[in-house]
Amino acid sequence: ITNNLALTPPMGWSSWNNFGPDINETVVRDTIDAMERLGLKDAGYMYINIDDGWQRYKGSREEHPLEVDPVKFPNGMKAVADYAHSKGFKLGIYSGPGVDTCAGYTGSEGHAAEDAKLFASWGIDHLKYDACCSHVDEPQAVVQQVMLDMSTALIATNRSIVFHACHCGWANIWEWAAEEGANQWRIGQDISDDFNYPGNREKYYFDVLDMLDRGNDVAKWTGPGHWNDYDMLIVGLDGESKQLVGTGLSDLEYRTHFSLWALAASPLLIGANITKLSQYDLQTLTNKEIIAANQDPLGLPITLQWSAPDNKTQIYSKGMQDESLVVALLNRGTETASITVDMRAHLTVPWDVYRVRDLWKKVDRGPYDIPFTTEVQAHEAKVFRVWKVACTVGC
Ligand code: DGJ
Repeated sequence: ITNNLALTPPMGWSSWNNFGPDINETVVRDTIDAMERLGLKDAGYMYINIDDGWQRYKGSREEHPLEVDPVKFPNGMKAVADYAHSKGFKLGIYSGPGVDTCAGYTGSEGHAAEDAKLFASWGIDHLKYDACCSHVDEPQAVVQQVMLDMSTALIATNRSIVFHACHCGWANIWEWAAEEGANQWRIGQDISDDFNYPGNREKYYFDVLDMLDRGNDVAKWTGPGHWNDYDMLIVGLDGESKQLVGTGLSDLEYRTHFSLWALAASPLLIGANITKLSQYDLQTLTNKEIIAANQDPLGLPITLQWSAPDNKTQIYSKGMQDESLVVALLNRGTETASITVDMRAHLTVPWDVYRVRDLWKKVDRGPYDIPFTTEVQAHEAKVFRVWKVACTVGC
């Protein structure tokens, strides 16, 4: 089934990575105001998603109807949605198919239709439905069914509600979630605030490179209306999140992370405290040409085209609707390296002459009729858009 929503990857903000369950109306309103003031709304960030922790009750109880925590949200959730809508944003909320959510609040088990109606009556536009903890050991068919129950219930409300079937990459969710009506699903476990820290993986968490590699393996399942979700962005957390493990990234590493998520056509949900973003991180998050690659109507993800024998340098690319390519040159190593791109050998296009634009430096280069070479710093991704200028054979 399909709701025909999210034809390009959803963009916005989510409360979890920075605030965890300490979310409240003031934080949401301040976030909305800051996103408007700082140009994030103009850049396309639309969804304000309240993650786990808004519910009134904790502990194993099937308390229904669901209630909003009256201390955190004294005016109720509809007032928050009305405020978001009045400023041109959309509001997202969170629940899950278990008795409890991951953070131990009341879930929607057995109440999908009732809760969908409640969310619609509040004016909710996006639901993250989280089975990461409640359905770890359940057979895949059970998880499929609970996701289908909720997507069906959301469609039945007649309100346009984007559906995130969150299962932390368990049970090969990418293979079946679109059929069950999901617009996005997580391809891996929770992101950590680390660029490359292999120790995390044994402890459940995925760093930036783990997520990139998983995404490359499952790239064929993503597309308009149904997206591989690389998890919420960590740009700007700076190792200070109370919720996420990890010690933070450098400014340049956060930029690399953002480029990779954008080019992979992942949903782009900022996870930082918007009111504390640095100028550099703001510039990272509002690069219109990188965002255009994320929002291209074809919805293609970058895939790995070439890897050096030591896997330290790599070339990724994706096609765009105007027949240009977006190319990322990634240096996973810890020293500056030089990467050479050959159109035929690396990008399998028979272009004899081409021109390129550096989407971070915002400068045009070429036209070239030979391979082009670029220095790439440690943990940097250079991003180019490449257009054909001339082609004689096999065009
Ligand atoms: C697990 C998810 O992976 C996180 O993104 C977050 O939603 C938490 N659950 C909330 O408890």
